[in-house]
Amino acid sequence: MSINNLKSRIQNRDACIAVIGLGYVGLPLVIRFSEEGFRVIGFDIDEEKVEKLNKGKSYLKHIPSSSIDVAVNNGFSATSDWERISDCDAILICVPTPLGSHKEPDLQYIQGTMDSIKPHLRVGQLLILESTSYPGTTEEELVPIANKRGFTVGEDFFVGFSPEREDPGNTKFTIKDIPKVVSGITENCRSVVEALYSSIVNNTVPVSTTRVAEMTKLLENIHRAVNIGLVNELKIVADKMDIDIFEVIEAAATKPFGFTPYYPGPGLGGHCIPIDPFYLTWKAKEYDIHTRFIELAGEINTAMPVYVVQKISEALAQNGKNLQGAKVLILGVAYKKNVDDIRETPAFRIIELLQEKKAKVDYHDPYVQQLHQTRDYNFQMSSIDFSAETLAGYDLVILTTDHDVFDYDLILQNAKCIVDTRGRYRHQKSVVCA
Ligand SMILES: NC(=O)c1ccc[n+]([C@@H]2O[C@H](COP(=O)([O-])OP(=O)(O)OC[C@H]3O[C@@H](n4cnc5c(N)ncnc54)[C@H](O)[C@@H]3O)[C@@H](O)[C@H]2O)c1
Repeated sequence: MSINNLKSRIQNRDACIAVIGLGYVGLPLVIRFSEEGFRVIGFDIDEEKVEKLNKGKSYLKHIPSSSIDVAVNNGFSATSDWERISDCDAILICVPTPLGSHKEPDLQYIQGTMDSIKPHLRVGQLLILESTSYPGTTEEELVPIANKRGFTVGEDFFVGFSPEREDPGNTKFTIKDIPKVVSGITENCRSVVEALYSSIVNNTVPVSTTRVAEMTKLLENIHRAVNIGLVNELKIVADKMDIDIFEVIEAAATKPFGFTPYYPGPGLGGHCIPIDPFYLTWKAKEYDIHTRFIELAGEINTAMPVYVVQKISEALAQNGKNLQGAKVLILGVAYKKNVDDIRETPAFRIIELLQEKKAKVDYHDPYVQQLHQTRDYNFQMSSIDFSAETLAGYDLVILTTDHDVFDYDLILQNAKCIVDTRGRYRHQKSVVCA
């Protein structure tokens, strides 16, 4: 199939889209392509998710089942049958890219996907990596497979990279409004990638190579990690100087140029900001370069839970209590407000540190009813009920995630002692900021 053929199938909405990895990134893409009239097939190795999605049900809190149901009615189906890859014109890879135990890139999910789809690839398809990774991944992991199958990339098979800019829970922007960086291995590849995404977003941003696109995504995330590290450090200094860091940030943010506000917190969380920067750190070593900003920000951000626990200990001491045996309630375990995502959440490190000091820890999070085993932690805990009585039963309540649904007045009126890591109570003299 020629490039023009593929482009016209995209333009006429005849193209079938494969989305591999039906998670935080893949599912919104499924919904968006389906809204635009494309037939979408979702691939995932998790049978439970596949089954649920085929019934028109969402498994992520911020994605309503109604959106999945509409997609199913428009022809979307989920599967783990890789043979169906050959039915698809465009294949989008949205699988996890975590770190290994030594902070090295763990590409097993991308490699696993390539192994699964390899026998079913055919001439005329477009293969795009959406997962975040270091510059060179598309060239090193996708192109050799296409070559091995005997395709000529840019002529009868097309390969590109387009990073996702998903921000779960952010209601201000939809996929359609967020400009999408697009790239290809060759000029032909880039032009098909651009044609595909132009059908679902208002603006595409073509860049010259897949390596530029990969590095762009990393710059975006490193920029956040470093600036959050900076405000976290400044928070500690400001606290010692008895200065309200939030008031400082608000005042600085009135500058109409050259300043972007970032807010301190209990540490970094989520699948992206604590992880992605280290993909570049690892790759930079190949060039004998030590990425000091990334390492330093990582050091400061990962130390924040220790700082928070120290503030908890001081707050308890002021009330004549010790951490040992103290009853502590964690409010919010999701890594950020209004979502159910607990990946890399700093709340878990805080719980661990408190338990090490023999505090009795419970949590309440309306978005996370139960804690299950993760790669690093195994807390078998359930979210406790939230009421004036339960709040009053704890020696200390710590606000780790400032979900909008929390009743902040109720917390203030009933908790014996509050430690706030989010600045929600910054005007309350009785609350300890951490
Ligand atoms: N979560 C975000 O906000 C966000 C934003 C931008 C970019 N990213 C990047 O997007 C990628 C995906 O992240 P996510 O948050 O959607 O992850 P996720 O864990 O929510 O979803 C990934 C899905 O892939 C499935 N999967 C794993 N291996 C597979 C395989 N071999 N074949 C098929 N399915 C497989 C998993 O079962 C899961 O459903 C990562 O590279 C991440 O860095 C994430």
